[in-house]
Amino acid sequence: MLKFVSNKGGGSPVDIETAILAGYAPDGGLYVPEELPQVTSDQLEKWRGLSYKGLAFEILSLYIDRSIVSADDLRTIIDKAYDTFEKEEVIPIPKLQSRDDTYVMELFYGSTLSFKDVGLSFLCNLVDFFLARKKERLSIIVATTGDTGPAAASYIAGKSTLDAWVLYPKGLITEEQERQMTTLHHGNVHPVGVYNCEDGGDDLDLVISSLYANLEFKERVNLSSVNSINWGRIMIQTVHYFYGYLQVADRVREEVSMCVPSGAFGNLCAGGIARKMGLPVKYYIIANNKNECLHRIFSEGVFSKEPIHETVSSAIDILIPMNFWRFLYFCVEKDASKIKMWTEQFESTGKVEFDEETFNSYKQGFLSNSVTDEATLGIIKEIYESESYLLDPHTAVAVAVLNKMRSQIGNHKVICLATAHPSKFPNVMQQALGRDYLPIEATHPSIETAKRKCQKGFTIDHEYLEEGLLDAMSYQWEQSQKDA
Ligand SMILES: Cc1ncc(COP(=O)(O)O)c(C=O)c1O
Repeated sequence: MLKFVSNKGGGSPVDIETAILAGYAPDGGLYVPEELPQVTSDQLEKWRGLSYKGLAFEILSLYIDRSIVSADDLRTIIDKAYDTFEKEEVIPIPKLQSRDDTYVMELFYGSTLSFKDVGLSFLCNLVDFFLARKKERLSIIVATTGDTGPAAASYIAGKSTLDAWVLYPKGLITEEQERQMTTLHHGNVHPVGVYNCEDGGDDLDLVISSLYANLEFKERVNLSSVNSINWGRIMIQTVHYFYGYLQVADRVREEVSMCVPSGAFGNLCAGGIARKMGLPVKYYIIANNKNECLHRIFSEGVFSKEPIHETVSSAIDILIPMNFWRFLYFCVEKDASKIKMWTEQFESTGKVEFDEETFNSYKQGFLSNSVTDEATLGIIKEIYESESYLLDPHTAVAVAVLNKMRSQIGNHKVICLATAHPSKFPNVMQQALGRDYLPIEATHPSIETAKRKCQKGFTIDHEYLEEGLLDAMSYQWEQSQKDA
């Protein structure tokens, strides 16, 4: 049976159920599979005609042992996750008319209109399945730069096994994103708006790490997380890379690249792992906004934390791409002692400069670049005016980066991952299009409905967040134990 270990080497190997329910490994590391399952060209050929759900079943079966989740149960969990999606095919992949060989992988047809729905719809249902079987309850905590929080809240809402604590930097996400969390009336959803987050969402992650380190509290309220520190998110996100490739390539082994708007490297960590499993993606192009953390890592070999810039692509205003450490593990021959050394160095000095051999190994097959807000807004307008297709600001970062790099990568098919629906960012859409009204493509019925609902939630200053959460989460936990 495939086991999972910490990328920092602590603790002992665990099964997938334990890895997923725990979130972090006990030593604070990220869970990784002991071996990455390998997929051959023949297998890819056989998978070519599969639907997204069919492919998800095949790929997840490589990681989830049948003795833990039976084939029937896995199919039911997948169906439950994706039957809520707006499009039958789950992830449509249209071709841009105004560009050569450029496709857009629309990952935003889940209930909260971002790619986070693709991972969280499945993961929350899987966690619920495990907990219902064990008759246990978890307190789930996530920090968000605008999209993880709504998706986690939406897929946890109403589940009797889970409480969702969704922390967001007040004023740094859009009103539309905030309402997606605060208008869910379910008693198990607890949005927390946090004032004065100087480093945006990264500030919230630090408080979450501190709560995890408080072992008495962690065990008392059964604390876990479903953000991209959870292996389950990475595993399910490998599926859309396989799906995208197989939909767009005319034959297995055709050169296809993918361009991904990136922040914490959760999405692209899954892409990198998919390639290590055997998916023949030519280049992964890392698209950053002015917060160039990943561009620095992949072009200079330096992992460093710089001051944050607020941009129009706010969901990728991220300073610390924590999933890079998970990917790096597979690039240094699974030498956990190196990951432990580098993460400790980063925690104490705020900077790691990688040696030549490590740099050359992890950057293989990756290109990176960043764009300004001006370029992001410009490409939204240009593509809308030429073909009436509206990019959200994050997808626009990917298309704008591809624009910059097209001549370098050559003529072959490139899929830009479209990570959110434009209706989540109406002000940016108006700014880009230079209008004070929104075109229909920038609206969505669920966004309009949320405006007519009462909002709920906690607010607190960042300075008191840890104390406030200890208090509120303990109270909520006690209540849920009484009700049980
Ligand atoms: C719309 C959108 N695009 C891109 C990203 C970047 O994804 P990741 O943090 O996994 O790199 C995020 C989330 O952070 C997002 O919400």
